[in-house]
Amino acid sequence: MLDFQYHSPTQFVFGPDREKEAGARCKACAAKRVLIHYGSGSVIRSGLLQRVEDSLQAAGIAYLKLGGAVPNPHDTLVYEGIDLCRRENIDFVLGIGGGSAIDSAKAIAIGTCYDGDFWDLYSQRAQPASRLGLGTIVTLPATGTEGSNSSVITRTADLLKRGLRSDLNRPDFSIINPCLTETLPVWQIACGAADIISHVLERYFTRTEQVTLTDHLCEGVLKTVLEVTPQILADPDAYGPRANLMWASTIAHIGLLGTGRQEDWSVHALEHELSALYDVAHGAGLAALYPAWMQYLLPSDPDRFARLACQVFVSERNCKDHQQFGLDGIRQMARFFSKIGLPVNLRDLGVRKEDINKLAAKVKRNPDGSCGHYLPLQDEDILAIYEMAYDWSESTLNR
Ligand code: NZQ
Ligand code: ZN
Repeated sequence: MLDFQYHSPTQFVFGPDREKEAGARCKACAAKRVLIHYGSGSVIRSGLLQRVEDSLQAAGIAYLKLGGAVPNPHDTLVYEGIDLCRRENIDFVLGIGGGSAIDSAKAIAIGTCYDGDFWDLYSQRAQPASRLGLGTIVTLPATGTEGSNSSVITRTADLLKRGLRSDLNRPDFSIINPCLTETLPVWQIACGAADIISHVLERYFTRTEQVTLTDHLCEGVLKTVLEVTPQILADPDAYGPRANLMWASTIAHIGLLGTGRQEDWSVHALEHELSALYDVAHGAGLAALYPAWMQYLLPSDPDRFARLACQVFVSERNCKDHQQFGLDGIRQMARFFSKIGLPVNLRDLGVRKEDINKLAAKVKRNPDGSCGHYLPLQDEDILAIYEMAYDWSESTLNR
């Protein structure tokens, strides 16, 4: 186990109707002028925006609104938000909606306090030093952005999608009301489940030894997602499964599961190029990559894949041949994705085969040119994984 320093300062406010406390929470953060930032309209249709406005008015807090954050949010609206905050002396940004609206809110809160082009921060040319106050009300269990140290923005000019990791991205408070997910289409629930699974796996696949506690925590979150996602799809009115998926989403990406271990993040790097170029849902892109990525990496560490299969994906606990058992785990994971309606290859996601070289060239690399840390991927590995993922199916497991 590695040494670490971990600080998660966000106050989480969990349960039905808790969004009515938005005004009081902003006041407790000494907010004077709030920017409510949201997406393309779901928060208007659900009535959430009105409830938040009522709550701010009741608390006597002035506010402005800026909507329009699109899925895979763009830098153009971030620039607009930064200008607005500076012009109007906004001191607190309240992001409401899915990961895209909240990531855009994070970029505005940090970018307003940066004396320069905020994209410097997303291209690692500079580090942020401060931000405006930041609160969130999350409506989609997926990204965990309500507690994460990350935000992801796409540069419109060249469709470059890049993330900023900084503890400043961790909100002052986040309100989580599982009932707000009731208006989500099943497709978004499924994409969210894949994203949560992936946030765990990016930490689970590690070469760090003696990480017994976080291994078990990871497996617990994965088992929870596998159990409650089909329950939500079967019974949309059940509160318990929604509440558990919502909290699993936060826990998966709050950083706790990565404490003391080296994290990977190569699948996210490969996926971000897909959602940037084709504007597909991030979770769907992850589901379409994982089976091939796992099959490609399995020979390098069959024990880890066998353990994942044993602990999470395969009920029959016969782990004698680790290679075979690892393959069985991949098969079961792909079946889970298919069962909840997700693609398990790039062709079904809508990727054009002729774009694969372009995608591979854009993938974010480490300073030494590799990608990820579990098995640092070289250029030829990235290309091979995209190619295997293009038409992956269960029969690929027999190759
Ligand atoms: O824009 P609106 O109208 O709000 O509609 C959204 C959008 O169309 C809709 N939606 C959200 N909540 C809803 C709802 N519709 C009905 N009822 C609700 N309760 O769902 C659609 C997708 O929303 P979006 O915010 O794009 O989805 P998600 O939460 O999956 O966020 C994806 C973005 O987050 C990034 C992804 O790359 C992508 O850009 N990520 C952010 C991370 C972070 N900040 O820590 C980590 C992740 O790995 C990820 O990269
Ligand atoms: Zn993700």
